[in-house]
Amino acid sequence: MLIGIPKEIKNHEYRIGATPSMVRMLVEAGHTVRVQRNSGTQIGFTDEMFSAAGAQIVNSPADIYACEMVIKVKEPQESEYPLLREGQILFCYLHLAPDPVQTKHLLESKVIGIAYETVTDNHGKLPLLVPMSEIAGRISIQVGATSLQMNHGGKGVLLGGVPGVFPGRVTIIGGGVVGTEAARMALGLGASVTIIDRDLNRLRTLDSLFGPHLKTLYSTPSNIEESIVRSDLVIGAVLIPGKTAPRLITRDMLRKMTPGSVFVDVAIDQGGCAETSRPTTHQDPTYVVDGIVHYCVTNMPGACARTATLALTNATVDYALKIANKGYKQALSEYSGLRDGLNVCLGNVANEHVAADLGYKYVAPNKLLVG
Ligand SMILES: NC(=O)c1ccc[n+]([C@@H]2O[C@H](COP(=O)([O-])OP(=O)(O)OC[C@H]3O[C@@H](n4cnc5c(N)ncnc54)[C@H](O)[C@@H]3O)[C@@H](O)[C@H]2O)c1
Repeated sequence: MLIGIPKEIKNHEYRIGATPSMVRMLVEAGHTVRVQRNSGTQIGFTDEMFSAAGAQIVNSPADIYACEMVIKVKEPQESEYPLLREGQILFCYLHLAPDPVQTKHLLESKVIGIAYETVTDNHGKLPLLVPMSEIAGRISIQVGATSLQMNHGGKGVLLGGVPGVFPGRVTIIGGGVVGTEAARMALGLGASVTIIDRDLNRLRTLDSLFGPHLKTLYSTPSNIEESIVRSDLVIGAVLIPGKTAPRLITRDMLRKMTPGSVFVDVAIDQGGCAETSRPTTHQDPTYVVDGIVHYCVTNMPGACARTATLALTNATVDYALKIANKGYKQALSEYSGLRDGLNVCLGNVANEHVAADLGYKYVAPNKLLVG
């Protein structure tokens, strides 16, 4: 198969869809891989390294989008829409439910969009979202702590406190991968941490993982309000896979926090979990609503692009090989977890949640893979 790896063009996005080591595995499996010039240079993966791994280095995005399969990180940006071709496989993050414009373009171009974030494993987990969630969860506390500083518009609270002064209070809503890693970092700094989830078994697991230092709370509107009002830093980390994030935090609730408190909405890539959330970029990551600093960057792991690229490609390489070796129809028919990644296919919406959230007819993947 002819496979293309483009340079990412989303704001401050330095990750790349394949490392030289992943390219080498694809080439050794008999595939031809094109890599766009300078796509990994800034994170230490030079064109020479990609060439040595067997890649062809090409200059333009058009050379990449001429390939049968494009493996990238983030969803295609506006300038890439015209390059998409009917029957082309697009393997990357898509996050379609909160993005009607992109969905429309992908449907019109009739690409086969396999979204990293809805691929599942044998335990029903999301193996291609996990590595980025681990990174975003850890980053969320770093950016939250920084945003609490006066020089970043915060209230001047040091999350860990010092002897004789209480530490900062952190509420994390959603105790999955992002929430767990955020809790690990916040507890590591010495903050006082509460984690809220609607899954009691998840709260039991977190309780045994972190012991009495972590406070757990069942997710109800009252519990969320009570906890965030007392917090210096709130992390939004909920997910209902494929769906637009539930709006659990109202503007009224946020208004009751003390001015200069910080809200980091990691769930912004699925639309955000607060009434006041709107996407921001690494270039201009924060804005203030009613005195509360909001950080809502949709590609947080892009800030730690080298670590993130290595972690992401560790997880994607086996799936990419399956698709390239067998073709998408056979690969998706054989591996039900990979089939769960199919979001759009030749003009049809193949993910139930995306169809429901955006008002499209849902066509089951099985029906699209025959013939
Ligand atoms: N902004 C970024 O750069 C970035 C990077 C990685 C992940 N994310 C996003 O972070 C979010 C969380 O990802 P994850 O991998 O931790 O997901 P996850 O599935 O591991 O965890 C989500 C948790 O939310 C909980 N939840 C669902 N509804 C809830 C509710 N009403 N109240 C309380 N808890 C609720 C679930 O029970 C689950 O434990 C996703 O939207 C993901 O796309 C964003």
